Amino acid sequence: MLPLLGVFACKKSPDAGSLDVIPVGEFASLTGATASFGQSSHKGTQMAIDEVNAAGGVLGKKLKLITEDDQSRPGEAATVVRKMLSRDKIVALLGEVASSRSLEAAPLCQQAGIPMISPASTNPKVTEVGDFVFRVCFIDPFQGTVLSKFALSKGWKKVAVLTDVKQDYSVGLSQYFKKHFTANGGEIVGEQSYSSGDKDFKAQLTAIKGSQPDAVVASGYYTETGLISLQARELQVNAPLLGGDGWDSPSLVEVGGKAIEGSFFSNHFSVEDPAPAIQGFLKKYRTKFGAEPDAMSALGYDSAMILVDAMKRAGTSEGPKLKAAIASTKDFAAVTGKITLNAERNADKSAVMLEVKGGQFRYVETVAP
Ligand code: PHE
Repeated sequence: MLPLLGVFACKKSPDAGSLDVIPVGEFASLTGATASFGQSSHKGTQMAIDEVNAAGGVLGKKLKLITEDDQSRPGEAATVVRKMLSRDKIVALLGEVASSRSLEAAPLCQQAGIPMISPASTNPKVTEVGDFVFRVCFIDPFQGTVLSKFALSKGWKKVAVLTDVKQDYSVGLSQYFKKHFTANGGEIVGEQSYSSGDKDFKAQLTAIKGSQPDAVVASGYYTETGLISLQARELQVNAPLLGGDGWDSPSLVEVGGKAIEGSFFSNHFSVEDPAPAIQGFLKKYRTKFGAEPDAMSALGYDSAMILVDAMKRAGTSEGPKLKAAIASTKDFAAVTGKITLNAERNADKSAVMLEVKGGQFRYVETVAP
């Protein structure tokens, strides 16, 4: 044992060798506007950590999941992540769902030399922050293309776009949709925006109504989309809405009710998929939580399992080595599909299109990258 080396190793990135447990950080919106994101991803993440510990842990130790609530508030993600990096000496960070919040944390992890794995943030900028930042989901240039191809296949040529300008995710998704759509013969007949937390979308929807679109892309989160659908129908905007993974929450139909029926969105997985990995996960999750998992639960689970797999292959939890092992993740059999991390530290995975039908999210089709 070389104590001096131990001291140096501890300074930059703590190695599990010097600790009784391996501290893994997680930041999530457990409360606030998008609480369902954090609640879901946290349940999935916790389930994975519990399973690993029940099977004996990793590197001969138990994992300790340290979870901080960022309250869905801008600025809070950076605060709690800073705390976990300095106070808790986490060896890796899992989170967040919302791209804007992952973008707050990514530079902190990059600077600290601590790997971060986002389960569900799809904005490309997240992993562009640096080589310590990864994700286990696809990115929005792909998701935007999937939505555009879907619209074109439906014969929707004139589309209006409604964007949440407070979310990097929504801004990016609208932009990528428009790019592919207009390059392939579609026409954007209206562009409107709102800010997270808004409750009244009537002015935007009235303007959209005048442009008589075949469909309306609503690229924001479920939190506003339910209300948007209600107000659209009230104003006789009867075109289907089209959205991305940010719609994935039971509250979309709780709020939207009949108004959101017949609308479509892209997502990371479908609970109707008969794949054994998905059905097995559903069963375990229902038993443990008495609730239905959504994409964020599955991706939270996958993010933790990818981390554990990398720790085993690295034989250490020391930052740079762990980072290298995560980067070389190849054909990992995850719940949401086979995960290989590409050179940009993103996962090239299929998306599914879902339709809101009978209050449920029904599988329509799978779109490969
Ligand atoms: N993709 C969204 C984002 O980047 C987050 C999200 C993922 C929301 C999955 C719901 C389901 O902000």
